[in-house]
Amino acid sequence: MKIFQILSPFFLSLLLMIITPCTPQPFACDKNKPETSQFLFCDTSISYEERAKDLVSRLTLKEKVRQLVDDSTGVARLGVPAYKWWNEALHGVSSVGRGNVHFNATVPGATSFPAVILSAASFNVSLWFKMGQVVSTEARAMYNVGQAGLTYWSPNVNVFRDPRWGRGQETPGEDPLVVSKYAVNYVRGLQEVSDTIGENSTSNRLKVSSCCKHYTAYDVDKWKGIDRFHFDAKVTKQDMEDTYQPPFKSCVEEAHVSSVMCSYNRVNGIPTCADPDLLKGVVRDQWGLDGYIVSDCDSIEVYYKSINYTATPEDAVALALNAGLNLNCGNYLGDYTENAVNLSKVEESVVDQALIYNYIVLMRLGFFDGDPKSQPFGNLGPSDVCTNDHQSLALDAARQGIVLLDNNEGLPLSSNSTASLAIIGPNANGTEVMISNYAGTPCGYTSPLQGLQKYVSAVTYEPGCSDVKCRDETLIEAATKAAAAADAVVVVVGLDQSIEAEELDRENLTLPGYQEKLVIEVANATTKLGSVILVVMSAGPIDVSFAKNNKKIGGILWVGYPGQAGGDAIAQVIFGDYNPAGRSPFTWYLQRYIDQVPMTDMRMRANTTDNFPGRTYRFYSGKSLYEFGHGLSYSQFSKFIISAPTTVVIPLLPHNIFTSNNSQAIDPSTVKCENLKIDVVIGVRNSGPTGGSHSVLVFWKPPRSGGGVSGTAPNLQLVGFERVDVMRGKTQNVSVGVDVCRGLSLVDSEGKRKLVVGQQHTLIVGSASERQIRHHLTFRLDQSITKAESITNTITSRQTL
Ligand SMILES: *[C@@H]1O[C@H](CO)[C@@H](O)[C@H](O)[C@H]1NC(C)=O
Ligand SMILES: *[C@@H]1O[C@H](CO)[C@@H](O)[C@H](O)[C@H]1NC(C)=O
Ligand SMILES: *[C@@H]1O[C@H](CO)[C@@H](O)[C@H](O)[C@H]1NC(C)=O
Ligand SMILES: *[C@@H]1O[C@H](CO)[C@@H](O)[C@H](O)[C@H]1NC(C)=O
Ligand SMILES: *[C@@H]1O[C@H](CO)[C@@H](O)[C@H](O)[C@H]1NC(C)=O
Ligand SMILES: *[C@@H]1O[C@H](CO)[C@@H](O)[C@H](O)[C@H]1NC(C)=O
Ligand SMILES: *[C@@H]1O[C@H](CO)[C@@H](O)[C@H](O)[C@H]1NC(C)=O
Ligand SMILES: *[C@@H]1O[C@H](CO)[C@@H](O)[C@H](O)[C@H]1NC(C)=O
Ligand SMILES: *[C@@H]1O[C@H](CO)[C@@H](O)[C@H](O)[C@H]1NC(C)=O
Ligand SMILES: *[C@@H]1O[C@H](CO)[C@@H](O)[C@H](O)[C@H]1NC(C)=O
Ligand SMILES: *[C@@H]1O[C@H](CO)[C@@H](O)[C@H](O)[C@H]1NC(C)=O
Ligand SMILES: *[C@@H]1O[C@H](CO)[C@@H](O)[C@H](O)[C@H]1NC(C)=O
Repeated sequence: MKIFQILSPFFLSLLLMIITPCTPQPFACDKNKPETSQFLFCDTSISYEERAKDLVSRLTLKEKVRQLVDDSTGVARLGVPAYKWWNEALHGVSSVGRGNVHFNATVPGATSFPAVILSAASFNVSLWFKMGQVVSTEARAMYNVGQAGLTYWSPNVNVFRDPRWGRGQETPGEDPLVVSKYAVNYVRGLQEVSDTIGENSTSNRLKVSSCCKHYTAYDVDKWKGIDRFHFDAKVTKQDMEDTYQPPFKSCVEEAHVSSVMCSYNRVNGIPTCADPDLLKGVVRDQWGLDGYIVSDCDSIEVYYKSINYTATPEDAVALALNAGLNLNCGNYLGDYTENAVNLSKVEESVVDQALIYNYIVLMRLGFFDGDPKSQPFGNLGPSDVCTNDHQSLALDAARQGIVLLDNNEGLPLSSNSTASLAIIGPNANGTEVMISNYAGTPCGYTSPLQGLQKYVSAVTYEPGCSDVKCRDETLIEAATKAAAAADAVVVVVGLDQSIEAEELDRENLTLPGYQEKLVIEVANATTKLGSVILVVMSAGPIDVSFAKNNKKIGGILWVGYPGQAGGDAIAQVIFGDYNPAGRSPFTWYLQRYIDQVPMTDMRMRANTTDNFPGRTYRFYSGKSLYEFGHGLSYSQFSKFIISAPTTVVIPLLPHNIFTSNNSQAIDPSTVKCENLKIDVVIGVRNSGPTGGSHSVLVFWKPPRSGGGVSGTAPNLQLVGFERVDVMRGKTQNVSVGVDVCRGLSLVDSEGKRKLVVGQQHTLIVGSASERQIRHHLTFRLDQSITKAESITNTITSRQTL
């Protein structure tokens, strides 16, 4: 009886799994239902646009408005099922949102990569692309068994402008180029179908649909009583053009993302979802979005209710639709659009156009092509989720991102000479903390404690604090005792979602509660110098100056929120099985920085008039604990330039005659510089004791005085990067491509790009904490070339070894 009781649920579920056919996601144009599969919109031989137009032409206004929301009802009489648009896949298929993602015994979990801020630290574009591919494969596999959708509102490409932002963890950091490259690669990994079929209706098919959010200048969640629903971001044209917009522009123009989400906040007084210049003007017309624009949830209701932006809900929905919004996360468009049309506040044709954009995306996903089983990716299923390869990539992503901030000869630990290890700290046995926010259920977890136990059998574990807030110091004593008795100590401190999160910005940069005291007392309790390894698990920077010069602390690692395999990654780095090569994707400000800068001040540039110090490595020149791009290795790398141009000849467009070569700031649209690239070839030599990876960063220092361009120029600007593996004793050549017009141009105070000709530009290879190499170059206009065809091969390249 007992045995039966234990076994029966198991057999029952086994039996259920065998006899219950997996219910696939509903789909339109089912070939087995001739009454609905014969409509023109089901005809795969015509264009998506014609099909979408046909479908919309068959709908009544009442039906139409119910398809403008994330939880769309579908139109049963036409065989179009309900569809839930809101799915998330920030760093793995996530169950956040009102979509179809859910985990059960059929697919119990999905691969959970590190929080984006840590993967970003790898500076490895192929990793970002591969992660996108894995996530979209798992999403398709789950879709096939009814456990996921096709449209994903990821990634978050807002620049991590302020160290306090609770959602910094979701982003690729503070640099617009890194954010752009992350976005382009991750989005392509999600969306691209490798086996493209034909060139007509199926040509720009999507694997899954991705969405770049939150457009734009959104990065205040809740800080000192100011929240995102009420926040009006005052942004200069200059900051807009060279900081806030570039990731979105790259997403649309380079990655061909199929959706953009507008944010909650206002920009210069106008809610982004109600701004026709930002939506229709820029995203749709200027950048050429092939996809839909969706609101955050529910931005329309927010600007109606929170700030009384319009007099009636009908005005609110009309404003959004007329501005170019196509889909509403929330209910407002569903509830008020019909009346808004009746009241002539918005034309029905605007509603039609919105639906056409939305349906084209569903069509590109195959939702209107009949049974998904007979379509691309129809063969994927539960066995394609959490595969060994996918889980290894999650581990690799964490290892590639981990940053060695300081090494006081304490790292790596040797497992031979570490007979006993004390593992201490509120995040030392962390599991959920490692998967950050917008997560799903991971395939499994390896906590730091579990990871480290694989190297040393005699371990003691003392949390030292009851949680990350660490409001109680009574557990510290047990931790110091454990530390005193061990050969080496690993202390895992940091933050979690109770400190930095959506709707929760930080108010300081210190470790919460008694955590700092815990580290100091644990260090003090040890006898050997350098035997304490400090591991910082957080997204945003923490002022750990107290630890930097503590002789007992042998090394400091930043591990972000490292995902499901975080514990293995941390242990492999600590014990030297993986040589760290991550670089910080943000500046580690000192605590005092935030007293000088209100979080709500959106300015990037320093201003001496009101003592504003500026933000990020591009504009802040004050002292920081670690600089953007900082990251050490167990090996030593040296770099030298193999080749780089000293003069870049820029061809003119016809009819543009410049009279002088001297110090001109010219409008890039008057010269033929589109796709004009220079290559900087750099040798990377590994002269250290062990093989490893090295990310080469190439910065640009604009001409002094900014070449006469109005407004402050950046101190430095990252213009290219490339990660490379170099074996011990070897040299590898790396070529870093730099886009001349996008990368090496300044933005003036009117938000216009300018190319400075006839003055010295400097390229700097390496971050502020390594030996840097400088290379000078100038731009020269080629007066003789005025024909568009003659632009090839105009770069004079000289060896400058
Ligand atoms: C998991 O969910 C899917 C979709 O709802 C369903 O078809 C399947 O039967 C569920 N599996 C189990 C074991 O409950
Ligand atoms: C594309 O569609 C057009 C018109 O429907 C057709 O004439 C042409 O053959 C198609 N091309 C391909 C490659 O299928
Ligand atoms: C919005 O209008 C309502 C009703 O008129 C009023 O009670 C509320 O204070 C207003 N809110 C704001 C933020 O102005
Ligand atoms: C809009 O007008 C139509 C036709 O007059 C009417 O049937 C419908 O109820 C109106 N809708 C709303 C929400 O008032
Ligand atoms: C540790 O021990 C292993 C196996 O005995 C040996 O191969 C290795 O060289 C040792 N490492 C160090 C750093 O002593
Ligand atoms: C570590 O955390 C896991 C999961 O929360 C828990 O089951 C386990 O007991 C913890 N280990 C220790 C030693 O506290
Ligand atoms: C800093 O902020 C955290 C929460 O963000 C809080 O736990 C901590 O006590 C604060 N520390 C100081 C010194 O204000
Ligand atoms: C360090 O430890 C000694 C005893 O070993 C103690 O007297 C001293 O107060 C400790 N210092 C700190 C900062 O905890
Ligand atoms: C600096 O700040 C002052 C006062 O806010 C402002 O008037 C001035 O325009 C600013 N200068 C620049 C270069 O932005
Ligand atoms: C610009 O510089 C090039 C090369 O130095 C020279 O050939 C050309 O005449 C110059 N043009 C003007 C207008 O000075
Ligand atoms: C970049 O990431 C890819 C994918 O994980 C990996 O195969 C490659 O080795 C990485 N490159 C370097 C230089 O670490
Ligand atoms: C790197 O470039 C140098 C100079 O062009 C060349 O001699 C060398 O063979 C290259 N090394 C590799 C590994 O390609």
